[in-house]
Amino acid sequence: MSEALSAAQEFLRCPHCAVSIKIDAGVAKCDAGHSFDVARQGYVNFLTNQTFIKNADSAAMVKARQKMHARPFFQNLALQLAQVCESLCRDISVPVIVEPGGGTGFYAHAATQVASSSAAVSFDISVHAAKVCARQSNRIAAVVADVWQPWPIGENSADIVLSVFSPRNFAETKRVLKSGGTLIVVAPEHHHLVELRNRFNALNIQHDKSETISALLGNFTKIEQFVHQSTELLDGQAMCETLLSGPNGHHLKPNDMEAILESKPLDVTHSVSISIWKLNIDERQSE
Ligand SMILES: C[S@@+](CC[C@H](N)C(=O)[O-])C[C@H]1O[C@@H](n2cnc3c(N)ncnc32)[C@H](O)[C@@H]1O
Ligand SMILES: [Zn+2]
Repeated sequence: MSEALSAAQEFLRCPHCAVSIKIDAGVAKCDAGHSFDVARQGYVNFLTNQTFIKNADSAAMVKARQKMHARPFFQNLALQLAQVCESLCRDISVPVIVEPGGGTGFYAHAATQVASSSAAVSFDISVHAAKVCARQSNRIAAVVADVWQPWPIGENSADIVLSVFSPRNFAETKRVLKSGGTLIVVAPEHHHLVELRNRFNALNIQHDKSETISALLGNFTKIEQFVHQSTELLDGQAMCETLLSGPNGHHLKPNDMEAILESKPLDVTHSVSISIWKLNIDERQSE
């Protein structure tokens, strides 16, 4: 079993009945007898028969995103997020980072490299993403789960929830965060990838204004917000990987991809906002 899954046993909960689980001999079992196989690649699949699988990344999308992550904008973003995590966790002996919709665990991985004593859990509905996540790091427990459902993790277990371009279930975020814990949200600005979207008539990104996020986060106080932005010259291959990595990846046809691969390089704006929110201590204690 992966070290990370072993370490996460104390927080993970059964997706059927929310009681604790134990992982032994490649099987995760709850006290009520529900059991889930741990794949030989090191992830555990907590999807239930009731899960309606939608928007799970395909193997091709996961591969494209891995390549995209190697580019300077994403490397710098990961480093910045890791540094934020490190400064938030300095006084915590074993900080726990939870990444819903964590994909390959790229950002949690960066955080565990910098915040060296930390443990991380990534939830993603894509088995392809979980496989890569488990392979990439023995510090991240890779769990296949639907983050629109109750997360299979106990309340008060996370020091940080890291939400990067992922579905945002703030009710669950609040439940699993410890009192005074931190939510980090990375969301695209309205002009993120605009040149690329215009050239290929691609889907618009969902740009949530800070006020929208703020309205949904009534129990949190924003402590910081900044924009990470740069322009990168992308060739056909990089443009294709970028489009495949996002919502367009679910719709691109082989013909579309051929046309993108053959097109001329383009300067593309990359721009995301990073906002950092503390769960109000009073809110948690008053429950
Ligand atoms: C745009 S990707 C971002 C992945 C990762 N945070 C990153 O930036 O590299 C969105 C991720 O959310 C996952 N996802 C979509 N719907 C989900 C759901 N209901 N539950 C869990 N994961 C989901 C997808 O499989 C995908 O890995
Ligand atoms: Zn159970």
